[in-house]
Amino acid sequence: MRVARTLPALTRAIAALRARRGRIALVPTMGALHEGHLSLVRLAQKRAERVIVSIFVNPTQFAPNEDFRSYPRTFAADLNALAAQHVDLVWAPAAETMYPEGFGTKIVPEGAALAGLEDAFRPHFFAGVATVVAKLLLQCAPDIALFGEKDYQQLKVITQLARDLNLKTRIVGAPIAREADGLARSSRNVYLTPDERKAAPTLYRALQACAAQIAAGQPLGAVLDEGRAAITRAGFALDYLEARHSATLEPIGSAQEGPIRLLVAARLGRTRLIDNVAV
Ligand code: PAJ
Repeated sequence: MRVARTLPALTRAIAALRARRGRIALVPTMGALHEGHLSLVRLAQKRAERVIVSIFVNPTQFAPNEDFRSYPRTFAADLNALAAQHVDLVWAPAAETMYPEGFGTKIVPEGAALAGLEDAFRPHFFAGVATVVAKLLLQCAPDIALFGEKDYQQLKVITQLARDLNLKTRIVGAPIAREADGLARSSRNVYLTPDERKAAPTLYRALQACAAQIAAGQPLGAVLDEGRAAITRAGFALDYLEARHSATLEPIGSAQEGPIRLLVAARLGRTRLIDNVAV
């Protein structure tokens, strides 16, 4: 496994991968790798002959009050996990490489990025994500790039970005990897205290309960109200629990307007968790 830390090293490493033919997949990450990331890597290996994983904690997608400084950084363990998975190349640029002196271009996505979900609570977030993902896709020029449904709105924003800017990379979504008790795997789960960790699976259970009730024909509004109450009772401060059209993320009035995706974000102590399910 090669590790590129500068743009010239990346260019050389990609030229070597291209010389061996076959499709190239990119899996962008911010490191602190867990089974969710590794499931993306395994899916990438099914869809392409060569796999690049990028590791970059992107400062521009964190607000000043967010956890950029304390975000878990486990670079040595990440490299071991990726080497064990037979990844071909790791792209791990320094912040000055991604954003050198004089950097002054930002991609500000609209459409799915203004759905009133994550964007309502993290207004800076999708511009940071869109800009860094566009850079990663241009730097690596992969045939496909994989993103988890865990960050469902992000997946929609990036799919739209690739389409709008005529990027050559095909965006592929991957299912959510969960712990045995249903909690969606996340780099931020390490923030949870033991008590919070016990309460955390309530989020997924509430989503599942809502999805089952909606599928059984119960009215959307009442189901969501009960779901919101259950999440709050478990000790979460709820940011949102919403039913949206699974393709457009537009608000939806009844199950007939579907297919529906239920999306949730809630804070447990100092940790913000997000999750979603299909109905
Ligand atoms: P990060 O949170 O490290 O996630 C990297 C990728 O792993 C994303 O596509 C995310 O959706 C996926 N992922 C995380 N947890 C998952 C899980 N439990 N199951 C399936 N996939 C999961 O998302 C980012 O980084 C950044 O915003 C990034 C796209 C790299 C841009 O900086």
